[in-house]
Amino acid sequence: MRRTSRSAPILTLALSTVALVAAGCSGHGSSGGSAALPAPAAAPAAPAAVMTASGVRLPAGVTLQMVALGDSLFNSGGCQRCHGQKGVGAKNAPALVDGTWQHSKGSYEEIITTVTNGVAKEEFKDTTRPFAMRARGGPMNLTDDQVKAVAAYVYSISRGRK
Ligand code: HEC
Repeated sequence: MRRTSRSAPILTLALSTVALVAAGCSGHGSSGGSAALPAPAAAPAAPAAVMTASGVRLPAGVTLQMVALGDSLFNSGGCQRCHGQKGVGAKNAPALVDGTWQHSKGSYEEIITTVTNGVAKEEFKDTTRPFAMRARGGPMNLTDDQVKAVAAYVYSISRGRK
């Protein structure tokens, strides 16, 4: 009897200490902590726009992977044959890097439309160009996803170097 009545308060104290420590930990890590601290300013409400190495903010939904795919399609495929390597312009087609646009305002969607439809000779601003720009890169026969990738690349180079 005596032994149990003696040891009982000690056990109770030990248990309540554990409970306090546990309560302190959980309070810090969950609702107690976040209520006391201001909402973290760095946490973005919407996903941040992806930026290219040259500092171009890409349109929503456009990834660096798309730009990279577009780069290889543009510079290995038919686009560069007329527009020059990296779109700097050539005899057959205008530069795409200087931020000036002749067939639209140069939005991502508009570039997609231009590449999807091509540019007929009757639409040329410079009538000395010898060849029409064919739909979907002509022989490249770009899929919708490839058109988007190429448009993402053109978008990025047109904003990256002014
Ligand atoms: C046969 C040559 C040729 C090829 C190949 C070609 N283009 Fe073009 N592109 C042109 C010509 C010509 C124009 C319009 C020039 C004019 O209006 O004077 C043009 C216009 C454009 C424009 C509109 C530019 C503006 O100022 O609005 C974009 C964008 C474009 N091309 C992207 C591409 C892409 C991407 C590819 C590859 C999928 C491609 N082109 C392949 C000849 C070509």
